[in-house]
Amino acid sequence: MTEQPEIRKGLAGVVADTTAISKVNPETNSLLYRGYPVQELSERCTFEEVAFLLWEGELPDAVQLEAFTTLERDRRRLDQRVKRVIDELPLTADPMDVVRTAVSTIGALDPTLKADPTWIDPELTLDRAATLWAALPAIVAYAQRRRRGLEPVEPRDDLSYSANFLHMTFGEVPELPVVEAFDVSMTLYAEHSFNASTFTARVVASTLSDVFSAVTAAIGALKGPLHGGANEAVMHAFREIGSAEHAVEWLENALAAKRKIMGFGHRVYKNGDSRVPTMKASLERLVEFYDRPDVLALYDALETAMVERKGIKPNLDYPSGPAYDLMGFETELFTPLFIASRVTGWTAHVLEQQAANSLIRPLSAYSGPDQREVPADR
Ligand code: COA
Repeated sequence: MTEQPEIRKGLAGVVADTTAISKVNPETNSLLYRGYPVQELSERCTFEEVAFLLWEGELPDAVQLEAFTTLERDRRRLDQRVKRVIDELPLTADPMDVVRTAVSTIGALDPTLKADPTWIDPELTLDRAATLWAALPAIVAYAQRRRRGLEPVEPRDDLSYSANFLHMTFGEVPELPVVEAFDVSMTLYAEHSFNASTFTARVVASTLSDVFSAVTAAIGALKGPLHGGANEAVMHAFREIGSAEHAVEWLENALAAKRKIMGFGHRVYKNGDSRVPTMKASLERLVEFYDRPDVLALYDALETAMVERKGIKPNLDYPSGPAYDLMGFETELFTPLFIASRVTGWTAHVLEQQAANSLIRPLSAYSGPDQREVPADR
């Protein structure tokens, strides 16, 4: 008899490869990007610097940052052809599908994509990654304004990545606490080792496909509520609950109905998500800025009840959901915001995969019927 192979459902606990991009340490609740704690990066660096770090491995010096910033600002405008493709989509389309289609379109329009699929050039991959990164705020802002029946807003070259993102979405530059909170969220969402969407991007890259295809596929993986869709679900839960005094009762009913409480739990962190304290601090600043103590009261009430009842702590999506809501983003736009940030991590992984490639192709244990003959009368 042949020995049954060990099945690791969901690849849980499987170490699939090495990476030098980030390190998640569940024991110490820490997350490092290229060796730097993400909390320090979000306090002391802009998202532009973090994007450079993820791609290049080091923080930029002044000259490098200047060149990098110029490149990003030069590529903020959306190609008219991409806008036309978006305009063909129904207004009811899920914004994730809109963004995925726009990214795929940018790939299809790229004149540098060679017909020879085995031709991989890291400089071109990086250049395409920067193009996508710089265009994503315009795509997301366009998607939100279109849903609201508003004219698109042109980017401003004198603004930082985050200030311009908010300007294109809302038609004005919000005050500093809002821009800062948004920038922190971009840094916190940028990278998280072999999560489902990043692994998807690496699988696609491992077939020697291009970076646009890898990002398009990663967006598909991120769309699911067990991954990127959770911060949207947090807001739906907040709306169902209404206010802090109903949190315990709502939780009891939800758990009795065997519902997963979105924004709680994590495959890797079992004792709290390293990014939560930083994002919660940003949420607190937003609550003060918008004078919405009710939001924090509900946040704390549900967290306390969940920890008491199940011992499960929040993940990053828990504070980011209400933070984006306070900023004025439509709930359906939260996961597209995640894309705008995570595209940096995804593409850093595509580069890493391409640099030492091995086709990702696991095995499966067959569990279907034994071999049999097709009936003679077929
Ligand atoms: N609400 C209720 N119960 C939860 C839970 C949640 N958010 N997260 C985990 N649990 C429970 C499970 O029901 C399971 O209980 P059981 O052993 O009685 O069946 C136990 O905790 C283990 O959970 P499991 O789903 O096996 O853990 P996982 O590592 O596979 O899942 C997540 C991790 C993220 C998929 C899971 O925590 C979840 O679905 N969270 C909600 C979605 C979310 O916020 N996603 C964003 C992740 S950053």
